[in-house]
Amino acid sequence: MEIPFSESYKMKMVETIRKSSREEREKWIKDAKYNLFRLKSEQVFIDLLTDSGTGAMSDKQWSEMILGDESYAGASSYYKMKAAIKEITGFDYFLPVHQGRGAENVLFSVLVKEGNIIPGNSHFDTTKGHIEFRKAIAVDCIIDEASDTTSIHPFKGNVDPVKLEEVLKKNGDKVSFIIITITCNSCGGQPVSMENLKTIRKLADKFGKMIVYDSARFAENAYFIKVREKGYENKTIREIAREMFSYADAMTMSCKKDAIVNIGGFIAMKDPELLEKASVFNILFEGYITYGGLAGRDMNAIAQGLFEGTEFEYLNTRIKQVEYLGNKLIEFSIPLQLPIGGHGVFVDAKRFLPDLPKEEFQAQTLAVQLYLESGVRGVEIGALLADRDPVTRENRYPALEFLRLAIPRRVYTNNHMDVVAVSLKNLYDRRKKVTHGLKIIKEANIMRHFTVEFDLVGTI
Ligand code: F0G
Repeated sequence: MEIPFSESYKMKMVETIRKSSREEREKWIKDAKYNLFRLKSEQVFIDLLTDSGTGAMSDKQWSEMILGDESYAGASSYYKMKAAIKEITGFDYFLPVHQGRGAENVLFSVLVKEGNIIPGNSHFDTTKGHIEFRKAIAVDCIIDEASDTTSIHPFKGNVDPVKLEEVLKKNGDKVSFIIITITCNSCGGQPVSMENLKTIRKLADKFGKMIVYDSARFAENAYFIKVREKGYENKTIREIAREMFSYADAMTMSCKKDAIVNIGGFIAMKDPELLEKASVFNILFEGYITYGGLAGRDMNAIAQGLFEGTEFEYLNTRIKQVEYLGNKLIEFSIPLQLPIGGHGVFVDAKRFLPDLPKEEFQAQTLAVQLYLESGVRGVEIGALLADRDPVTRENRYPALEFLRLAIPRRVYTNNHMDVVAVSLKNLYDRRKKVTHGLKIIKEANIMRHFTVEFDLVGTI
């Protein structure tokens, strides 16, 4: 008999989680104004809100925490992080920051000016937020297959070179750089192929443009290249990552994802002049250039996490768990973004609740219903997250309306995945009874999804 697949780690510490009753959840979600970000974590049984900062650190990472050098300037932890970044990405220069959006804030303070156009593959919301906050425009040049959840394409995160070239030809003088998100979170944790990265590099060179990678899940992207792209099957994840980054000029990184830490990030780049310019903003917003808002222990844990996060066995365990959940949902006929993504399963809310008007927030309604069913917390990636158009202030309704079930790294077992799958199945079986959604009663001007308050349109 073939030895079955299993995790590449065992558990050394656990945390108790608590089930609740439907009555309790009805009260809690009402008090939270039907916004899952406003729940207390103890009101949640299985938390799939995000895979960001929610991973379990290893024994080696925890021992690195003890070894952290907390000197204000020139800490050995900074040099440890610098060496890890150089080895894994090839970039010579870097700045530590407190998290991914800190990296965006610092780098975009140098690169983005009012009226600029920043093309990319479905920019993540904080990336778009930092562009629009500077009165610049994020133009989505992702391939069309990305917005059809039923189409199977191995690299749905790819940038469409034709769309990009059009932007560069028409508005080339306004484009300060191209951003490629690896993997693409907004379209379902979908990877970008090496071939596409090379093509975009050639195009950028033709027009003399910089390329920045939003690299939060670069290791998962490298994993997909290894298992899906011809010619890479015998390369290591780190060899693939080095090649990927060789086609970029700079990167922003949220270490809360593929470096498997609870907090941290960085910017890395080829150009020492860009480092110099960004350093000014780093000192202003984040902290001195050798700590950037992080403790020495955080930088140590990041250095260790970057190596663990780029081990094939670890990535195989992780991505197979996401696949396990996705395949259960497919068995139950639940509509998903296909193929199943790297960091989570993205349920297609438009096909799940086709009769609910989009104005009543289909994916957010689904997220609330799933929480009521069993205390599982997912997150909306749809019209709520898409925010209003900054000029017209009209709601933007994106092509994709997802309930994302993001899987934290090394945290839950497949039994937990079974609970999630059956909860969604129950909901799918009674989907025709979900006839009412939600209406917004209060929202912020930008990044509204974190604090928005809703009321029910009818009865739940
Ligand atoms: N880029 C991508 C692709 C992301 O997914 C995120 C965060 C960021 C940048 C910003 O990083 O949170 O460290 O400031 N994504 C989280 C999520 C929040 O739930 O997908 P951050």
